Amino acid sequence: MNVKQKIDKLRESINYHNYRYYVLDDPEVTDSEYDRLLRELESLEVEHPDLVTSDSPTQRVGAIPLSAFDEVKHSVPMLSLGNAFEEQEVVDFDRRARETLDTDSIEYAVEPKLDGLAISLRYEKGILVRAATRGDGVTGEDVTQNARTIETIPLKLIGKGYPDVLEVRGEVIMTKAGFEQLNETQRKNNARLFANPRNAAAGSLRQLDSKITATRPLSFYCYGVGEVSGGALAEKHSLIMKQLQKWGIRLNPENRVVKGSKGCIDYYQAIQDKRNQLPYDIDGVVFKVNSLSQQQELGFVSRAPRWAIAYKFPAQEEMTVLEAIDIQVGRTGALTPVARLEPVLVGGVTVSNATLHNQDEIERLDVRPGDTVIVRRAGDVIPQIVSVVLSKRQGESGKFKMPSVCPVCGSIAERIEGDAKTFCTGGLFCEAQRKEAIKHFSSRKALDIEGLGDKLVEQLVDANLIHDVADLFSLKLEDVSALDRMAEKSAQNLLDALEKSKQTTLERFIFSLGIHNVGETTARTLAMHYGSLEKLMQADEESLLQVTDIGPIVAHSITTFFSQSHNRDVIKKLQQENVHWPDIEVKSEDELPLKDKTFVLTGTLTEMSRSDAKTALQALGAKVAGSVSKKTSYVVVGDNPGSKADKAQELGVEIISEADMLKLLS
Ligand code: IVH
Repeated sequence: MNVKQKIDKLRESINYHNYRYYVLDDPEVTDSEYDRLLRELESLEVEHPDLVTSDSPTQRVGAIPLSAFDEVKHSVPMLSLGNAFEEQEVVDFDRRARETLDTDSIEYAVEPKLDGLAISLRYEKGILVRAATRGDGVTGEDVTQNARTIETIPLKLIGKGYPDVLEVRGEVIMTKAGFEQLNETQRKNNARLFANPRNAAAGSLRQLDSKITATRPLSFYCYGVGEVSGGALAEKHSLIMKQLQKWGIRLNPENRVVKGSKGCIDYYQAIQDKRNQLPYDIDGVVFKVNSLSQQQELGFVSRAPRWAIAYKFPAQEEMTVLEAIDIQVGRTGALTPVARLEPVLVGGVTVSNATLHNQDEIERLDVRPGDTVIVRRAGDVIPQIVSVVLSKRQGESGKFKMPSVCPVCGSIAERIEGDAKTFCTGGLFCEAQRKEAIKHFSSRKALDIEGLGDKLVEQLVDANLIHDVADLFSLKLEDVSALDRMAEKSAQNLLDALEKSKQTTLERFIFSLGIHNVGETTARTLAMHYGSLEKLMQADEESLLQVTDIGPIVAHSITTFFSQSHNRDVIKKLQQENVHWPDIEVKSEDELPLKDKTFVLTGTLTEMSRSDAKTALQALGAKVAGSVSKKTSYVVVGDNPGSKADKAQELGVEIISEADMLKLLS
C-alpha cells in the first residue's frame, strides 16, 4: 500500500466511525482507538502536505479569518413555515390539505422544531463544497469554513448512490449543556455572555474567525433537502431522510410518521412532555405532508409551503417590568439579588421572581429597577433575566448596588476579592444563617455534640427554643422532651452530650465558629500560633499574615468576623455557659516539637487531605518534602502508597502510618 492509499483508507475508516458515533449513536470503537486513527492520519498528512484535501477529517480546526462573508444565492429558496398556536389551527390545516388533495387521511412526517439556525450544505459528488446560512431565504452567507469545524456535518458522504448535487438542509444548534459550558468559559474570561442557546449557535456560526467556531459546541440535524440533481431521491420525505442517514447525515431521533391531525396533535403532546429532557432547545414541532407528489399538488403561499406547518409551544421568553431588586440572604450567608417582576405568563407559568445571581450579573445586564426586561423560563430552572429592553427605559433610574450591610442582621456584608458573591459576616448571629451555624457548631469536627443532628437543630430553631449556638446550653429537659418524637431519655442524653461538649479544645472551638475560609486545618494552625482565643481575637491582619499558610483573604475573613459585635456577644455567652478549653503554650520557632524533622507523604490519607496534613505538620515546625532521601525523618504511608515507600525501605528511613502521624500531631 502506498502513502496515498494508506491516507485514503484511514479517512474512510474515520468517516465510518464518525457515522457510527454521530449518526447512529452506536460507536464501534473506543475514543482512544478513534484518536489513534486520527493521529496517524495527521502525522501522515504532516509528512505529505501535498496529499491534504479539504474533505479530510483533519480539516476541522478552522482556517484563516475572513474580513466578511461572501453572499450565496440559494438555487432552491429556503422557505419559512406557517405557524399554529392552537389545536384548531392544526385541524384546519389538515382539513384544507385533505380538501385540496381530495383524500380522507394524510400521512405526515413529524419532527421537533429545533431552535437554532437554518443551514444549507451543498455536496457535489459527495464532497461538502459549500455551506450557507438561510439569510432572507433567497440569499445567504457563505459559512463553509465554519461549517467544516462542526463534527456532525460530514465533510464527505459515505456509501453509494447519492445524487451528484445534493443540498442537505437542517438546523445548526447548541445543546443546553454546551451552552451552559460556553457561558461558564465566557464568564471566566470576562467575555460577553449569550442569552440563550440559539443566540450562542448563531453567534458561533457567524464568526469570521472559524478557529473560534471550532471551539464552540455546535451540532447539526438535517430536516430536508434543497437542490437535487444528477440522481433522484425517494418519493416520501421520511424515506428521503432515511436515505440521507445512510449517506452519513444526522437525523433527529425524535422524527416519526403519523396519520391525520390526531396523530400530529398526539405527537405535539408527547414532545411537549419530553421538552425539558431533550438535550437541546425546541420551540415547537413541524408537521410535513409525507408524500412528495402530494406536496407538489399543495404548492406554496408566498414563501411558505401549504404542505407543512409549525405547531409552536408557548414561548419561554416574555417581556415584563422589573419592579424592584430585593436581597435574599441564604443559609451560608451569601447575599443574592432577586428580581421582583410584574407577574407575567411564561410558557404557561406565572413568573414574578427571577434570580440575578450577583453584582457582576447586574452590571453585565445593566439592569435597573423600573426597566422593561426579557425573562426566560426554560425547563425547571429558576427564571432568568435575559436582557434589558433599553429602548423602553424611561428617565434616569439609578444603577443598583449591593448593600454593604446584611439586610437580615445588620452585620457588615462583604465581597471578598476573587469571589463573585457578597457574604454577611455575622455568621453566629444572623437569623438567615442560624440553622447552618448551629449544625456546623455541633458537627463532629467542631464541638461534636452527640445526638444533635440536622433534623433536631431545625426542630429546636423552629420551636424558637434556640436563636444562636449559645442558647443550646440553656436548653431545659422539659423543652427538649416536649419536641416531636423526643422521649425523655433521649432528651436527657442530649443534655448530657451538651454538658460533655463544653470541655473542648481551642482548635475545635475556633473551627466551630464557622468563620468563612477557616477550616479545621486553619483552625489548628491558629490555635497553635496564638495559644488563646483572646490573642486570636486581638490579632490584626498584619499579625495573621505572619501565620503559616494564612493569606490576605483568610486574614481578612477572621478580622471581620471578630469585629462584628454580635459575633463577640455570642462568644461571650458561650464562655459564660462554661464552654472552655485549655490554652496552649505557644512555642517559639525553636521550640516547636517537630522542628528539624522532615516528612514525606505517600498514598491516600483517610482522615485528612494531603495538603491539610502538610499544613498541620508545618505548623509544628516540620518540613514536608516531595521525595525521599537519607535526610528524611519519616515517610507517612497511606493507602496504595507509591514508590516512595520502597525508596524509604531501601534507605532505611522510618516508615509510619497515618495513625502514627495523627498521634505526633496531637
Ligand atoms: S422545515 C419548507 N423542519 O424553522 C420547510 N424547519 O420557520 C422548511 N426549523 O428556517 C423548514 N426545525 O430553521 C423544518 N424540523 C424542522 C425544523 C425547521 C427547525 C426552522 C428552520 C426554518 C424555520 C422555519
